[in-house]
Amino acid sequence: MNLIITDNYNELSKKSAELIKEQIIHKPNTVLGLATGSSPIGTYKELIRMHKEEGLDFSKVITFNLDEYYGLSPENEQSYHYFMYNNFFKYVNIKPENIHIPDGKTKNVAKFCSKYENDIAEYGGIDIQLLGIGENGHIGFNEPDSALDVPTHLTNLTKNTIEVNARFFKSINEVPKKAVTMGLGTIMRSKQIILIANGDKKADIIGKMINNNVVTTNIPASFLFLHRNVAVIVDKEAAGNLKQQIA
Ligand code: GLP
Repeated sequence: MNLIITDNYNELSKKSAELIKEQIIHKPNTVLGLATGSSPIGTYKELIRMHKEEGLDFSKVITFNLDEYYGLSPENEQSYHYFMYNNFFKYVNIKPENIHIPDGKTKNVAKFCSKYENDIAEYGGIDIQLLGIGENGHIGFNEPDSALDVPTHLTNLTKNTIEVNARFFKSINEVPKKAVTMGLGTIMRSKQIILIANGDKKADIIGKMINNNVVTTNIPASFLFLHRNVAVIVDKEAAGNLKQQIA
């Protein structure tokens, strides 16, 4: 695990976008795994800048998003479909047919999830996966539990996640209770992973995840210790509880 501590969020976003840019230049038809939430917004802004000012080309890039709230349609402003179009896709030259986001309105969840896995596999797997981290250690919507699902699946959101994500909704009652998410296996099969965390609200979980050097289903992000090619990029605030720097 390569731990990078940056001075601020801006620098974090630039580093993370730089890794994605290198991958796209190396392989124009890169399969990109994407995340939502406030953490990646700066990365998307920087990638948009690279597209507009440096000609970074997304025309062959394939994307797969991590997750979507169950029950929300793409038009819903709180959906991750809406987020992705409005924070990233509409500003770059990505082809609509190359975009994949879990369907929150699917009638047959099991069939949808298995097709999502097959689609990723058919493209040769995810080359680089961008991740945020929940305050409880979730990645995607893989919540802390006694056991973690391997493939894409429908999951129940924890009380903590519903409370934390209520800030994006008019009231906490509007927050969906379930989501469709890539599983730990889907994420871990990515060839390269970038996890980003910023701000003092993430200091506690980043400390817990990294200081103890253990893998635990109580902190789904800790499974990243088992991956060969992970960059954890945190700003100074999110690094506030780290005891040591890891190699
Ligand atoms: C959400 C998403 C995650 C995201 C996390 C952190 O619930 N499902 O993919 O990483 O929460 O969000 P934020 O970046 O806003 O802190």
